[in-house]
Amino acid sequence: MSDANRDQVARSEARRLEAERGAPIEISFNGRPVPCFDGETLATALLADGVSEFGTTRSGAPRQPLCNMGTCFDCVLVVDGVPLTRSCLTYAVDGMTTESSRGA
Ligand code: FES
Repeated sequence: MSDANRDQVARSEARRLEAERGAPIEISFNGRPVPCFDGETLATALLADGVSEFGTTRSGAPRQPLCNMGTCFDCVLVVDGVPLTRSCLTYAVDGMTTESSRGA
């Protein structure tokens, strides 16, 4: 890493804002409990938990959040029985159930 890049990284870290976490809550993914925090999106909670496959395409290829702003639909899950729910736009709620979206 060059000195210029190192200086840029140091400056960017110095400008990070403090963030408070919400209360601990729990959702489930494919029947497995996933601990997370109030105020997080489902995509954030699942990625932080190490989930690498949110579902599959029609051809069976794995899908994972790409844009994180509601445009690509690569993050869709079945949430409390509702299919094609964009996990990057949906806040986690204690007790919420999520499942992989297959072939969507
Ligand atoms: S990550 Fe693209 S719509 Fe959710």
